[in-house]
Amino acid sequence: STEETLVLVKPDGVARGLTGAILARIEAKGYALVDIRLVEPDRERLERHYEEHAGKPFYEPLVEFMMSGPSVAIRLAGNRVIEGFRSLAGTTDPTSAAPGTIRGDFGRDWGLKVQQNLVHGSDSTESATRELGIWFN
Ligand code: CMP
Repeated sequence: STEETLVLVKPDGVARGLTGAILARIEAKGYALVDIRLVEPDRERLERHYEEHAGKPFYEPLVEFMMSGPSVAIRLAGNRVIEGFRSLAGTTDPTSAAPGTIRGDFGRDWGLKVQQNLVHGSDSTESATRELGIWFN
């Protein structure tokens, strides 16, 4: 059924000039852009966004990475868009993400403590509602 999700083009995607290529895939798939903005999140916003990862070894590097430059936040709509965008994105680790996916085609391991994997997509309707409230308020 019709639903919305939060997509982020993370700082690595913006810095590498991949925002347009990523948006092109989202649009070609047929999902609707409802809202889009460039955001430079502070630590407080990121701690809310990533609260489920607090205490994990990659948490602090993740927050630092996400503060390293702007992200593009996208409110995306369509039937089953949460599942559909995660399929477009590919699996978390860009080294093994399937070719044909955003992470598989554009991502790699840069030898850092955090997986720089270009995009984020909400993983459930509950996460989408929560995360959209954090990035679009
Ligand atoms: P995302 O799905 O947006 O949310 C959690 C992020 O943490 C994930 O993308 C990666 O950027 C990062 N991440 C997840 N697992 C690891 C890991 N094992 N090591 C380093 N970074 C990770």
